[in-house]
Amino acid sequence: MNTKTTTTVPVITIDGPTASGKGTITRLLAQRLGWHILDSGALYRLVALAAHKHSIPLDDADSLQPLAAHLDVEFAIDEDSGEIVTLLEGEDVTQDLRSETCGNDASRVAQIAMVREALLARQRAFCETPGLVADGRDMGTVVFPDAVLKIFLTASVEERACRRYNQLKDKGLGVTMRGLLDEIAERDARDRGRAASPLVAAEDAVQLDTSELTIDEVVDRLWSLCQVRLN
Ligand code: DC
Repeated sequence: MNTKTTTTVPVITIDGPTASGKGTITRLLAQRLGWHILDSGALYRLVALAAHKHSIPLDDADSLQPLAAHLDVEFAIDEDSGEIVTLLEGEDVTQDLRSETCGNDASRVAQIAMVREALLARQRAFCETPGLVADGRDMGTVVFPDAVLKIFLTASVEERACRRYNQLKDKGLGVTMRGLLDEIAERDARDRGRAASPLVAAEDAVQLDTSELTIDEVVDRLWSLCQVRLN
């Protein structure tokens, strides 16, 4: 696999396990910097949704590879809400994309090396001036090994389940803490244990345990690191 990037655009990678706060932290840090965002998990989720749409089993590597390589996706802004809308083959999948089922299915297709390889160029294409904050599992290890700053966020499984529980409850979705704890532990094991680009901190990543920190505290710490690395 080609692991070298050729761009000179600065990239900050934010990797970590499910519900470690990567999405929120990435968005807030990118806002402060005025940089672009890559939500790489969304691409794996989209492959999983496309697989369902075309009745392809989630372990059928030969069929999933071309699906991932030619994913027909568009990100648009809803004029009323100002929110980002995701269209897969022209169909609005914004809600489906965020479901727990979709996250688990994404973790399954993400085990397949051919799928990961097929998504590589698409992920790197997000790299545009003035810079990119990339959120995922292998951003610092595989997709952007030359990133100027690599962060690896962690938090206890209990804390992550609790955060996810509150998020889903706010959205009016019925879940139990026990169920979430089991799901997160299972997803962690799959993401860390797979052979292809497993979830692991890059050797040169700054690791931050966010269990006892607020979102603002995490962003402030990362901002301080940016001041050092980007100047
Ligand atoms: O970050 P997320 O929950 O949207 O990611 C969904 C799944 O996709 C995650 O469990 C593993 C996979 N994934 C991956 O393997 N590599 C990435 N860079 C991002 C996500």
